[in-house]
Amino acid sequence: MKLKQIFLGAALSTLALSATANSAFEKPSDAIEYRQAAFSMIRVQIGDMGDMLKGKVPFDAERFKHRANNAAALSKMPWEAFVADSDKGETSALPAIWSDNETFMKKATAFQQYADELAVAAQTGDKKIIAKAFGPWAKGCKDCHSSFKD
Ligand code: HEC
Repeated sequence: MKLKQIFLGAALSTLALSATANSAFEKPSDAIEYRQAAFSMIRVQIGDMGDMLKGKVPFDAERFKHRANNAAALSKMPWEAFVADSDKGETSALPAIWSDNETFMKKATAFQQYADELAVAAQTGDKKIIAKAFGPWAKGCKDCHSSFKD
């Protein structure tokens, strides 16, 4: 197969994946579980990275890199699961997510970008550079929760 065809194939399968992304959830409660699981995993990453930066545990550049890579991947995950009708049930998502989705998604997008920047900074292994990139990502939690999470 020619290289061009391989690329085209890859692009098409990505498209197919995003088109079916929302139907991955059979019931609204599946979507709620999915996003809560992603947030729980995000919390583990931020906890360990925060401990390393505060000196609660020794700073380990390799471990930090691993955490930051996880954080970058996980920070992209919760948003597809805020589907219609998943505002009810075992959730602390506030109705504002749906009534002011533009603001919510703006915060979610910035959050993902800051996580990517943190992952890039972590490649340097330089604690000062890393701490500078950690701040904006870490601030995103409270900034969003204060208006969108019960
Ligand atoms: C753009 C908005 C947004 C950002 C950014 C965000 N969260 Fe959340 N978070 C939510 C919403 C909404 C919920 C409620 C989800 C639900 O219950 O359905 C939530 C729920 C949670 C939960 C509870 C999960 C559970 O099991 O019920 C944890 C823990 C959490 N977030 C941690 C974090 C941390 C840590 C960060 C930052 C590193 C973060 N969140 C960033 C919106 C956000």
